[in-house]
Amino acid sequence: MSMINNDAIISFDEIKKQKEYISLVREILADKFYDKAPKAFVHTYGCQGNLSDSERMKGLLFEMGYRFTDNNEEADLILFNTCAIREHAEDRVFGNVGRLKALKEKNKDLIIGLCGCMVQQEHIKDKIKKSYSFVNLLFGTHVSYKLPEYIYSILTRGQKVFDIESNLNKIAEDLPIYRDGSFKAWIPIMYGCDNFCSYCIVPYVRGRERSRSSEDILKEAKQLIDSGYKEITLLGQNVNSYGKGLKEDIDFADLLKKINDIDGDFIIRFMTSHPKDCSKKLIDTIAKCKKVSHHLHLPVQSGNNRVLKEMNRKYTREEYLELVEYAKNKIPDISLTSDIIVGFPGETYEEFCDTLSLVEKVGYTSLFTFIYSAREGTKAAKMPDNITHKEKTVWFKELTDLQEKIAAKRSLDMKGKIFRCLCEGKGKNDNELIARTDGNITIEFVGDEENIGKFCNIKVTDTLTWIVKGEIIKEN
Ligand code: SAH
Ligand code: SF4
Ligand code: F3S
Repeated sequence: MSMINNDAIISFDEIKKQKEYISLVREILADKFYDKAPKAFVHTYGCQGNLSDSERMKGLLFEMGYRFTDNNEEADLILFNTCAIREHAEDRVFGNVGRLKALKEKNKDLIIGLCGCMVQQEHIKDKIKKSYSFVNLLFGTHVSYKLPEYIYSILTRGQKVFDIESNLNKIAEDLPIYRDGSFKAWIPIMYGCDNFCSYCIVPYVRGRERSRSSEDILKEAKQLIDSGYKEITLLGQNVNSYGKGLKEDIDFADLLKKINDIDGDFIIRFMTSHPKDCSKKLIDTIAKCKKVSHHLHLPVQSGNNRVLKEMNRKYTREEYLELVEYAKNKIPDISLTSDIIVGFPGETYEEFCDTLSLVEKVGYTSLFTFIYSAREGTKAAKMPDNITHKEKTVWFKELTDLQEKIAAKRSLDMKGKIFRCLCEGKGKNDNELIARTDGNITIEFVGDEENIGKFCNIKVTDTLTWIVKGEIIKEN
């Protein structure tokens, strides 16, 4: 059992206690809502890790008897799972929470809950307590498995629940999951981050790195594949440090291989790989494992060595480029993507130009680009920053224009070629569907809805910068 292999697992008794609360809440709600099911509106901000956490909280809510709605006006419980990565993310949450006050005035029994990374910060917790008194449930990232207990307290005692435990650093296993997709699924393989990049809030709000046992991950993957899932994305802030602290001797490459060995036709994706821990063994494993996608999200953040050092990234431009060369040699069709921060405190225009030249050299498929946002409590927030936001937006535009040119060329190179893709759903235009290549590029094509959730071979017929059009060659 995983508990024997992993000290980070929350005890069997604690999980059992939460399951008992689920039953108690279910009875109370059945009584209260005797002729209809209570409804929950769960809204998720931020990254895939947060989406995955929400699926787990929804699993608990579903078992308690809640059903889900997209309309907050008809909800009996509203839960915002928040993100703190940039100021803009937090501003959006505050704006949306403010609008809930009117709903609470109409329905005094409405439970309004906030959880996730943003509320894990002391100053945000205080602000909510002070200025958003209609919020009656607030809990941090370490304790989301206690949701049944919290709901029980509110329903029986009518009191507010605020729980921002910050030192638990544990993993809850064996709880229900309510998945948003029917053929694509997230599997978290590790939680937290120990890297403390100087700009980043994640290590403060997510706690220390801890890995799930391979046994638990493999069990989840097998169940998904047996029930017809076609794509599995392994999640972690730094998947390359998977396995540290476990009693079993395993690293991320070993885990990939084990999942690849599961019988069935499916694709394995993963994110995020920190370049400092991305081993040649991992690249060799991707090359060898047939089901592992040839896509590597390898955030570089900056192409300048001084900036990288100030960011505490622990690799140099040269080391990064060497890794990219190795990957391109081993996996010629590798698709590389990255995150980049523009306007880190103290960054000069010349240093930013090193980022431009690196982007050109690597030839990324796509980029996630961000203007630096100061996060309270991080090291970078105290560094002098002399470049105006306006200047940073000019640099930002220069970067996105460059990437657009690179992407247009990459798209053009796809023309006439055939790609095996997973068809994901309807496109924007009538009778068009979208499918995703192994390298994580979407193709729009005309096809029957029956293809959704299946693999198909698609020939690229036309390309614009970001839009790739194709036609279906053969199903399956
Ligand atoms: N663990 C991942 C990143 C997770 S956060 C990694 O190390 O690569 C996703 C991205 O948000 C980061 O890669 C970074 O580019 C961006 N980001 C994080 N903090 C930021 C900040 N303070 N301002 C702007 N962008 C930031
Ligand atoms: Fe943030 Fe760095 Fe950790 Fe990524 S590796 S989550 S950027 S501290
Ligand atoms: Fe993710 Fe945002 Fe938290 S990016 S880890 S939800 S701060």
